[in-house]
Amino acid sequence: MKPFTFHNPTRIHFGADQIARLRDEVPAGSKVLLVYGGGSIKRNGAYDQICAALSDCSVTEFAGIEPNPEFETLMKAVTLGREQQIDWIIAAGGGSVIDGGKFIAAAIALDPALDPWLIVGNKIKLERALPLGAVLTLPATGSESNQASVVTRRATQDKMSFKNPLVFPRFAVLDPSFSATLPARQIGNGVVDAFIHTTEQYLTWPAGALIQDRLAEGILQTLIEVGPTALAKPEDETARANVMWAANQALFGLVGLGQPQDWATHAIGHELTALYGMDHAQTLAVTLPPLLRATLADKQAKLAQYGRRVWNLQGDDASVAEQAIVATQDFFERMGVATRLDAYGVDPADAAQKVAEQLTRHGRDKLGEHGKLSPADCARIVAAA
Ligand code: NZQ
Ligand code: ZN
Repeated sequence: MKPFTFHNPTRIHFGADQIARLRDEVPAGSKVLLVYGGGSIKRNGAYDQICAALSDCSVTEFAGIEPNPEFETLMKAVTLGREQQIDWIIAAGGGSVIDGGKFIAAAIALDPALDPWLIVGNKIKLERALPLGAVLTLPATGSESNQASVVTRRATQDKMSFKNPLVFPRFAVLDPSFSATLPARQIGNGVVDAFIHTTEQYLTWPAGALIQDRLAEGILQTLIEVGPTALAKPEDETARANVMWAANQALFGLVGLGQPQDWATHAIGHELTALYGMDHAQTLAVTLPPLLRATLADKQAKLAQYGRRVWNLQGDDASVAEQAIVATQDFFERMGVATRLDAYGVDPADAAQKVAEQLTRHGRDKLGEHGKLSPADCARIVAAA
């Protein structure tokens, strides 16, 4: 296990009616910018409850943050926030809205002479950010209690991330009842995204981080256990609550501590979304199986551990590793997330060439836990997707 320092400052309020905590978290008299997406928060009860809990604050709204939030949209919120001299941000929605809230919180506080796009890709040192609170409605990304944000610039097909401790939400409200209105597609997406956040930090090589391995295996087993129920019976409160907590724990910071990490599936996936507009989890579901096959020699020991402990498979390492990849792909299909590019109308040969060009342009040319996956290797993986 490698040395590590761990600190996650986000206070989590989990469960029914925890939205009332907003009243304690946001000081009375604050000038709040409430940011959200296309209106789902008005159908799942979150909007009314947030407005009630913030009745001692002055609230300005910014709606319309789209999935895979766009720089141009977020900059409109930054302009509004500066005009209104906002001093708090509340982001209510899925990962896109919360990621958007992180960018807005950093960009409003940035010297206006600087180009805010420099925040994305960590090309500038942030001195401060406005305080941010998250109200989660879609369990998937873990964004509600991490320091990462992913922003897209559509005109140039750039989907890039930044990480900064200043944008950790001060608090996050995780009330599973807000996820009751999710369509099947987003339930499946959320489970697959959380699953692959876990594998990115776990399916590398044995590194003696025994607690982290068991955490990863517990999260994966829980998602396998409750994911299909959450899909088949959205009214099942236990399934909903455990999916929400599992997705949070997958990217809260604990699983990857002291571990080698991969993240190549995410790097390739972000390019597929930038190129073809596929949902984030769809890009991961098509990429992970061929990536595991292409890197089997390096990952075999961990894949065998995963196959035995998570899927109860038997046999020698090579056989268990192969069976584990098949079981993983089958699980994504059972969650309603197709694992072949042609299911999304994308030609694998076209995608392979374009993804390689994008990865080269973005300097993502040494991917994976060994830093040895080149854009040409990634092209072969995408061609097999
Ligand atoms: O816009 P609204 O109306 O809210 O509708 C959304 C959106 O259309 C809808 N939705 C959300 N909650 C709902 C609901 N519909 C009904 N009932 C509810 N309770 O779901 C749609 C998708 O929302 P989105 O926020 O885009 O999904 P997700 O949470 O999967 O977020 C994806 C984004 O997060 C980034 C992805 O790249 C992508 O841009 N990621 C962020 C990460 C992070 N910050 O750590 C890590 C991830 O790997 C990921 O890259
Ligand atoms: Zn993800």
